[in-house]
Amino acid sequence: MTISGKTKLAAVIGWPIEHSLSPALHGFWFMEHGLDAAVVPLPVKPENLREVIRCLPLMGFRGAWVTLPHKEQALSLLDEVDGAGKAIGAVNTLIFGPDAKISGKNTDAFGFLENLKAQQPGVQLRGKSAMVLGAGGAASAIIQSLITAGCSKILVSNRTESRAHTLASHWKEKAGYPVDAVPWEAKENHLTNVSLLVNTTSLGMVGQPDLKIGIGGLPDTAIVADIIYRPLKTSLLQKAEAAGHPICTGLGMLVHQGRPGFESMFGVAPSNINGAEQALIKMLGLDA
Ligand code: ATR
Repeated sequence: MTISGKTKLAAVIGWPIEHSLSPALHGFWFMEHGLDAAVVPLPVKPENLREVIRCLPLMGFRGAWVTLPHKEQALSLLDEVDGAGKAIGAVNTLIFGPDAKISGKNTDAFGFLENLKAQQPGVQLRGKSAMVLGAGGAASAIIQSLITAGCSKILVSNRTESRAHTLASHWKEKAGYPVDAVPWEAKENHLTNVSLLVNTTSLGMVGQPDLKIGIGGLPDTAIVADIIYRPLKTSLLQKAEAAGHPICTGLGMLVHQGRPGFESMFGVAPSNINGAEQALIKMLGLDA
């Protein structure tokens, strides 16, 4: 790929940024659609985020994806924020409009739900219960997606219980959403009516300890999802699959969350979602 003065530019901003998959993901779609475009990875320290975000539209960038640790801070630097971004309290996609106006969205919840629907077609969560493990930024986005999908009860369990309570009350106080915290040590006791179990902790990731949870209490039809994608199939997912549960792997969430921004920035809805996921699997050596 050669960049010229005609190349359409977007950025991905993080600190650090070396491991971002965004340039490769969007690069796949640029090839698919024959677009002369590039996503430039920018290592930006938190204290410089405001200046960088304000400068990018003036430099001809069409938008930017923001990743850790900037998703919360970016929210306060925008002219406009979508409903999901406001509800979650974080954004991951910035669109630069005329007059350098900056609109932010959170597409993580969208990404989770689209990935779930792709792997479990016909999944129906309306009126169902779900359990989310973890209470960080990712958990908040997943809760937003479960509320959108119509879950009638959402349980959050986290090692540091106070964070689970803070997250649950954030959503409860927002609009009386049915989110409750359950103690980490007792999470297995609350699986009886759970239709979807989602791991958002770092447990099970390459280099981290495994997530130790007995899933015998889950109904047979309950879906087990993990947002970790290194490895592609975590020990939790392997265990769930062996027990006959439908599962949902994590890499697709990353692929799907990139779709709305790509369309806004480059004017075309990315196709070949599966091809993009396979390209990332190959690049990360996850198929080895
Ligand atoms: P993110 O914003 O990506 O979700 P995070 O805020 O660092 O990331 O959250 C990581 C999650 O993994 C947290 O819920 C964390 O639990 P704590 O709030 O108790 O730190 C969870 N986690 C990390 N290591 C863990 C461990 N060894 N046992 C249990 N939970 C762990």
